[in-house]
Amino acid sequence: MRVLLTGGSGFIGSHIALLLLERGFDVLILDSFVNSSTNVINRIKSYLNNKDLKYKLETINCDIRDKKLLDKVFNDSIKEKKPIDIVIHLAGLKSVSESLINPLHYWDVNVIGTLNLLLTMKEYECYSLVFSSSATIYGLSDSVPMTEDQKISPINPYGKTKVAIENMFSDLYHSSMNLWKICSLRYFNPVGAHPSGVIGEDPIGIPNNLFPFLTQVAIGRRKHLQIFGDDWETKDGSGIRDYIHIIDLAEGHLSSIDYLNSNDSCLEFINLGSGIGYSVFQIISQFELSTGCKIPYSIQRRRDGDVPICYADISKAKKLLDWSPMRSLEQICLDGWNWQMKNPKGYS
Ligand code: WQD
Repeated sequence: MRVLLTGGSGFIGSHIALLLLERGFDVLILDSFVNSSTNVINRIKSYLNNKDLKYKLETINCDIRDKKLLDKVFNDSIKEKKPIDIVIHLAGLKSVSESLINPLHYWDVNVIGTLNLLLTMKEYECYSLVFSSSATIYGLSDSVPMTEDQKISPINPYGKTKVAIENMFSDLYHSSMNLWKICSLRYFNPVGAHPSGVIGEDPIGIPNNLFPFLTQVAIGRRKHLQIFGDDWETKDGSGIRDYIHIIDLAEGHLSSIDYLNSNDSCLEFINLGSGIGYSVFQIISQFELSTGCKIPYSIQRRRDGDVPICYADISKAKKLLDWSPMRSLEQICLDGWNWQMKNPKGYS
């Protein structure tokens, strides 16, 4: 079975690619490499070679806004008699703060890019899709944990682009019943790394997110962590999030493929998280405990676009996908730290 994996060289994509290849899928990675390194692909290949695994992996440098090139990718696949059976679509921009500064760029890449992809899939009669949506779409919620059917009210442009894409899926699905199979996976906070340490998170520039910032402080690349607010209405005043091990998240995509393959037409919106909320202070404590590193920090004012608390109700994923997160916060810290120690400067 052939999978087109857009954004396949990024943090999430690379872990999904590795799992797909290990399980015998034919993987075609499509990436513009604006936010990722081409070294990722070599890492994946050498890991599989060392394990003596036969694999089918191709990579194409492509921006999903380039419709002509997308057409060519689908057309060539058909000509080569290995048509694309399913698309896992991750390519997109994901920084909340950047989206507040340059919203049109986010609408262009995320929404126009996805529109292009859907148009192409329709033309080439590929109707199976797993999409990377985000917990950001819930925004300021009155109730936690977040359930899929609760109010959608994103408070930043990034979240709004994800909502627009999910709305596009609904319109498409209802326009041609019994055709499309779509799982829109609402990610909470994917963190950690592959336990081998061959691939992990390597943000370009200053990390926006807590976990990569923390591991970079631990390795000495950054002086101290800034905690964005200790005056939230939470038990210790810091923000609460749902951190999910990247391998658990990647496994959720394989379960989604199984789900799509064993069902007729469907459209499902599904939370992928650990189901547990941890505060920033709790993350620091667990990281220090698991790794023995000391994390210096300072308290700063709240960050624009942040919400106090966000964690998932994951009962739908458990029931529908027969999936459960297996890895603890301690495992997250150990694997994330292992990756950072083995790759102090990331992929460079
Ligand atoms: C977590 C907590 C911060 C950095 C991100 C992405 C978004 C989405 C979900 C996929 C918050 C605090 C952070 C720092 C800190 N992903 N923090 N110091 O805000 O949930 O959003 O994940 O769709 O794209 O932006 O995650 O890791 O940025 O923040 O104190 O240096 O850590 O205020 O409470 P967030 P995050």
